[in-house]
Amino acid sequence: MEYRVLGDSGLKVSVIGFGAWGIGGAPFWTNEGHTSSARAIMKSYELGINFFDTAPVYGFGHSEEILGKTLKPVRDKVIYATKCGLRWEKKSLGAITKNATRQSILEEIDQSLQRLDTDYIDLYQIHWPDVETSQDETMDTLLEIQKQGKIRAIGVSNYSTEQMKDIMKSGKIVSLQPDYSLLNRSIEKDIVPYCAENKMGIIAYSPLASGLLTGKYGKDAKFEDWRGKGIIGCFSGPQFERNMGKVVRLKAMGESMGKTCAQMAINWIVSQPHLTTALLGVKNAKQMEENIKALDWQLEPKQKEEIDNIFAEK
Ligand SMILES: NC(=O)c1ccc[n+]([C@@H]2O[C@H](COP(=O)([O-])OP(=O)(O)OC[C@H]3O[C@@H](n4cnc5c(N)ncnc54)[C@H](OP(=O)(O)O)[C@@H]3O)[C@@H](O)[C@H]2O)c1
Repeated sequence: MEYRVLGDSGLKVSVIGFGAWGIGGAPFWTNEGHTSSARAIMKSYELGINFFDTAPVYGFGHSEEILGKTLKPVRDKVIYATKCGLRWEKKSLGAITKNATRQSILEEIDQSLQRLDTDYIDLYQIHWPDVETSQDETMDTLLEIQKQGKIRAIGVSNYSTEQMKDIMKSGKIVSLQPDYSLLNRSIEKDIVPYCAENKMGIIAYSPLASGLLTGKYGKDAKFEDWRGKGIIGCFSGPQFERNMGKVVRLKAMGESMGKTCAQMAINWIVSQPHLTTALLGVKNAKQMEENIKALDWQLEPKQKEEIDNIFAEK
């Protein structure tokens, strides 16, 4: 396993991180139950993954709890990344709201520490920008809990360049967690250069486009979970159909090389300039064992060009 330093945080993270959204289960995903989720986490650790990303909202606390419980015996060897800024009144998708106020963060941090069963969180990220709250208030609160030793480093997720510039006036963020995959390269123009200039790490989320780049879905796929609800990403309509056409071509290319479609997409993303780590969501140990084989080889420049050409088409 390759490890890279996350921005100027000093945290050395595996180039593949474990994304713990899926194992959080309902109301977003369907997971495979506690035993399968715990095995996926432990197998990932045994394979050399030391970076585990979660959030309170994933399974409304369940993801943090299962991660904390499973990794407790190796807590000092792993890096926990969790988030703040999304709250819920009741456990339903429609009840989630953005809130990055001081009062809310002070409540959230103690709940996350408790659920993860730890004294500190290595990387604490603002999940989504809360435009109703001043960035000053949010950052001051994060610096306060950092001083108390509850968190080590501060990051953001889903921020634009302007929003990063704005919050940087109040304090340093070490990383950005954006949506980044072969099917969504929108960060490459402005955001990646900004992060590189400011010595910030980039943590790609949904590097398999939440399952689409595994090649197991066709253009007629209908999703019963959050993917069918138009929240983030593209899972229906003409653009979805065009995307699935590209995935079919990537899959065929992978087959000719003896690789899975997911391995092709993972190999591509970890070789992108300035990328620190890619968070892979898996439901079971077997998926991670298969995905991690994406790191054993390298795409030739010509093959990268071919992939770029496939996905550059409108
Ligand atoms: N900050 C944010 O706003 C944000 C947003 C989204 C995600 N994230 C982070 O990024 C992580 C990863 O994103 P993601 O969960 O959207 O998805 P992803 O890694 O792009 O795709 C994961 C899904 O693909 C399927 N899969 C993975 N490996 C497979 C294999 N070898 N064979 C067959 N299917 C396979 C599994 O779904 P099925 O088996 O169910 O098909 C899995 O849940 C999350 O867990 C979370 O930590 C953050």
